[in-house]
Amino acid sequence: MTETVEEKLSIRTEKVEKSRLPEVDFENLPFGRVFSDHMFVADYKDNGWHDLRVVPYANISFSPAMSTLHYAQSIFEGMKAYKRADGGVYLFRPDENFNRMNISANRMCMPEIREEVFMDGLKELIKLDQGWVPGQEGSTLYIRPFMFAADDFIGVRPSDTYKFMIFTCPVASYYAEPVRVRIETDYTRAAKGGVGYAKTAGNYAASLYAARNAQKDGYHQVIWTDGAEHKYIEESGTMNLFFKIDGTLVTAALGDSVLNGITRKSIIQLAKDFGQPVEERRISVEEIDKALKEGRVEEAFGAGTAAVVSSIKTVGHQGTDYDLPPMVEGTFAYKVKETLHNIRMGKVEDKHQWMVKV
Ligand code: COI
Repeated sequence: MTETVEEKLSIRTEKVEKSRLPEVDFENLPFGRVFSDHMFVADYKDNGWHDLRVVPYANISFSPAMSTLHYAQSIFEGMKAYKRADGGVYLFRPDENFNRMNISANRMCMPEIREEVFMDGLKELIKLDQGWVPGQEGSTLYIRPFMFAADDFIGVRPSDTYKFMIFTCPVASYYAEPVRVRIETDYTRAAKGGVGYAKTAGNYAASLYAARNAQKDGYHQVIWTDGAEHKYIEESGTMNLFFKIDGTLVTAALGDSVLNGITRKSIIQLAKDFGQPVEERRISVEEIDKALKEGRVEEAFGAGTAAVVSSIKTVGHQGTDYDLPPMVEGTFAYKVKETLHNIRMGKVEDKHQWMVKV
């Protein structure tokens, strides 16, 4: 669904009377529970985006019949802003989030977002709340752009109206410790021809049951396998996965059922820059099982905006836990995590021009 009306858009701003910033304990940030002072909102109706505004962060009200609540026409993105030593605030590859959001929008029969709505709204919001971008090592401002169907109608069809919003949260790490994951071969996150590659709410709902079962058994997450045969490794729901086996870095090839992670893509580029052999291909459970048994998995880690580069400590499969070496200096995971951090903080050359100043 493409917009036909291209009116010139401007953003109005309504500031909070009193900032909540002094109440925040930046030394003890949880993930995703502390929300900055403002949010960005735009409304879609009559085939166009209207009423762009940055307003105080607040609850929103809607009808019980609002279609998102019933049929999950809802998509989102995850991105981060970084504060450098000189106080400058930078975004990491925001164009990639913008493009992926519209890929998700198309798949979910939602309208595309105009670039100026996404980018100008984002920058305006971050500029206003730049005091919320943590300066502490390891903390950042997590940014959550999202769009949802807003029609008050319970017939099943794409909505005619939508809201696009962005709010932000100062956060520390998503995983506070190296993660324990289990290969999931009973339940399915995404199927061929489905919506697994779209960043849509239902994929996360579909992941909860198996993840909860794994958590009961002491794991943080599952490693999803393909829905048809459960023979091939896909992703972890909160992150894409990388394994270093016999010196080569491997990650699942993209497809219908794997999210095209921006951290994943950046790590593949950095691996190439470092001269680290890297393959995007089908990875069978059998191959991983054999490599685990033979002690040939040199490294395993997850990659995502929230997860950053998260070391995998244990892989569980068919009742056996395989412990993996830690992410220490000298490992690829350590080097790539540090390089991403240094690029973001302006400590090394940003040769791919990934950083955008707010
Ligand atoms: C992100 O990494 O930004 C995500 O959207 C994952 C989410 C589960 C926190």
